[in-house]
This record gives sequence, C-alpha cells and structure tokens, in this order.
Amino acid sequence: MKSSIVTLVANWKMHGNQAQVRSFAYAVNTMMQSASPNVRVVFCPPAIYLETTRASLPQNAQIKIGAQNCSAHAQGAFTGEISPAMLADCGARYVIIGHSERRAQHGETDAIVLEKAQAAAAVGLIPILCVGESATEYEAKQTTAVLSKQLQGVAAQPIAGLIVAYEPVWAIGSGKTPSMLEIAAAHAHIKSILGSAQTVLYGGSVKPSNISDILAITEVNGALIGGASLEIAGMQTMIAAVN
Ligand code: PGA
Repeated sequence: MKSSIVTLVANWKMHGNQAQVRSFAYAVNTMMQSASPNVRVVFCPPAIYLETTRASLPQNAQIKIGAQNCSAHAQGAFTGEISPAMLADCGARYVIIGHSERRAQHGETDAIVLEKAQAAAAVGLIPILCVGESATEYEAKQTTAVLSKQLQGVAAQPIAGLIVAYEPVWAIGSGKTPSMLEIAAAHAHIKSILGSAQTVLYGGSVKPSNISDILAITEVNGALIGGASLEIAGMQTMIAAVN
C-alpha cells in the first residue's frame, strides 16, 4: 500500500450519455466511502455532462470532477470552445491537457498545451498534462528525449499543483503496456525534470488485471484510465487495488 495519495483519473473520452454519467458518478462516489483514504478519483466525462455529473453528487462528494480539454483563451470569438473558467463554473476541478488524441487530431503543439495548462491553472483548475512517445519514437529509444522536449515549457515556467500523466501513445487503447521497468524509468525521468515531489500518473491500457502491478511501482502516483473506466465494476476493482 502506498502511503501517499494515489490519483485515479477516469477519462471517458467521447463516450456515455446522461444516464450513464449519473449512475457512474453516484456509484463511484458511494464506493469511495469504503475506499482507502489515500485514493482520489477524478471523473472526466464529456464537457456537456459536467453539470449532470455535479448534479448527481452530494455537495461534499469525494469523487472529483474533471474536463478533457479547455481553451487557452479566457473568452472571445472562439466558436465551439470552452474556457477554463466555464469548466470551473460547471464543477470541474481538474482538466486533462494535451492528450495524445488531441495532439494528433487537433494539432495541439507543446506551445499550445503549455498555454492551456497555464490558462487552466490561472482559474484554479488542476491541469493533468499528458506526455508520451509514439510507437516509432519508442522503437528508436527516444522516450526520455521526447519527454524532456514535451516538458520543457513547464520546467521553465512551473505550474503549482500540476499533475503529469505519462501515456505512451502506442499503449493507449491497444492493450499493450511498457514493461514495469520502462514505466518506472519514464516516471523517474519526469521527476528528474520537474522535481521528486511531482505527481506523475501512468496511462495506457490500464485495467483491473494490471493496475496493482503498475501502482506498485514506487515512482507511479496513480493512473489515467480510458476504456476500462467505462465499467463501474472495473472501476470498483481498480479503486480497491489501491488498498
Ligand atoms: P486507455 O486510454 O486506458 O483506453 O488506453 C487511456 C487514455 O487515453 O487516457
């Protein structure tokens, strides 16, 4: 068992509907009553369901609410975008920034990702900054070089409270994961850049069957879970794994 806080982030991506969001939030919050006091769960539904999530939870809910993206801008002519302040206004306390799907599908560069993380932190949201190498970079043994480059901005301009999620792009949704030694090495590298107190989560095909091994790695402070977080029963197993 870890003595420090273990953060489990449920990233629903573009999945779910109001009813599913409601039952998940309610069920997971109920589970938290009997969970280890060290576990913190952050539920990131699609932004349109943030309010639904908040409404399904009691005021002092143990489960925290997060968003999956935000604009780098505070307001203005940005049709379809959502500002960090709007997310906070609808109950979000965390926001995932620079997920590899957004980097690949929406051209988010390290510079944009840094601006978004700063904009989020400016309104009191905790940014969960995603970094990680592609399959080609992994095969070329460039993982540490890629992580150093992706973290250059936050290393130069530290963001208080920032959470980093190490997500090898090739491990996301693929069922593949790096070896435990590789996960430990990547996390150690991130901490060597941002300081040993930096919270670093692992993400990429985390599921009930492998979460205990992953959380047992000293350098790992939690997990960012995609597909496996859609099932309430799986989530229950993964929360129990923290005990
Ligand atoms: P996965 O996704 O758990 O389905 O691999 C993780 C993520 O993309 O955050």
